[in-house]
Amino acid sequence: MADGDKKKSEERVRIFDTTLRDGEQSPGASMQKEEKLQIARQLEKMGVDILEAGFPVASPDDFAAVCAISEEIRHASVCALSRCRSEDIEAAARSLEKARSPRIHTFLATSALHMEKKLKLSPEEVLETIDRSVRHAVRLVGEVEFSAEDATRSDRDFLARAVGVAIAAGARTINIPDTVGYALPTEFRELLHFLRTTVPGADGVIFSAHCHNDLGLAVANSLAAVEGGARQIECTINGIGERAGNAAMEEVVMALRVRKSFYRLETGIRTEEFVRASRLVSTITGMLVQPNKAIVGANAFAHESGIHQDGLLKDKRTYEIMLPEQVGLSEGSLVLGKHSGRHAFRARIETLGYRLSEEDLSAAFLRFKKLADQKKEIYDEDIETLLSEGSGTPEA
Ligand code: KIV
Ligand code: ZN
Repeated sequence: MADGDKKKSEERVRIFDTTLRDGEQSPGASMQKEEKLQIARQLEKMGVDILEAGFPVASPDDFAAVCAISEEIRHASVCALSRCRSEDIEAAARSLEKARSPRIHTFLATSALHMEKKLKLSPEEVLETIDRSVRHAVRLVGEVEFSAEDATRSDRDFLARAVGVAIAAGARTINIPDTVGYALPTEFRELLHFLRTTVPGADGVIFSAHCHNDLGLAVANSLAAVEGGARQIECTINGIGERAGNAAMEEVVMALRVRKSFYRLETGIRTEEFVRASRLVSTITGMLVQPNKAIVGANAFAHESGIHQDGLLKDKRTYEIMLPEQVGLSEGSLVLGKHSGRHAFRARIETLGYRLSEEDLSAAFLRFKKLADQKKEIYDEDIETLLSEGSGTPEA
């Protein structure tokens, strides 16, 4: 490996989890303090680098939750969100007082649309506000992240000026949010590259991506940002978040892991904890995970077609690009249904403890196919019944 490549392979992408902040902004997903603490413990166990615990000024409950998380979490950095307003920044700093590694995340919109219609501030006033707010936050908590809200719909040169002001004021992480999930991967990669290579002081800060999923591109855009030089990804468990959600942590991290020879980047995440984290977040928020959801959906490692099942029985790599154990499942499953073949059927009955002659197996397989035409899925009990109708012999 060339020297340049070697250096690249040692680089790390920080994982910034915002399940407890942007994730909580999913309609109906609000959480109590104790529930947030439970999720925070799981996130810390997984090796998340930064854990955004909430938006303290938003409610006394959220303030209390950030305080409690700051007190308990020792390994991950704990982050609190604030608008570019003094009262927000001060509430964020107070909520982080007990944190071992606190971070204030302050944000202000930079698109013409947001500045004019929502903030009612001129571009120059926006730059002054960023400067004043970042300096204020840095005085209270050294570690400050600045986000240019609606960055992907902002004028590129104005965005670059805003990022430059935040860096000069002391922000150490610059987050580029695709607030409304509007960006396309190539465009987003170029935006990150442009900012990193043109803004004065950019080489001294970490660039971050925060992608929403309105066009289903949050994960692709996060990975494109990494290609453009971002070294922090903001994401949530199960991809929950405002509207269509945020980039799903399990998908981003597994893409970096499975395609490591392409990215040559590490995360510190214990991926074996993904299924546990997914179930915990789903139970607490009441937001169900769709069965075909990548990585953690019930069908993510389930195989029904006979051709696939046969291939898997010969070598798992034929139809699995990662092991179920790597994401915390004990093993994948061969689902028996009308597309299943004789090999998978034989494997299942042998797992159940039956050994059949070839002739009996053929007869049982015919009965199985008939049943499979009437039922979506064939369970072990169905097979037991089906065998008891024939001449299967349980092993001693
Ligand atoms: O989507 C967004 O722009 C945000 C910011 C607060 C970072 O969530
Ligand atoms: Zn967001």
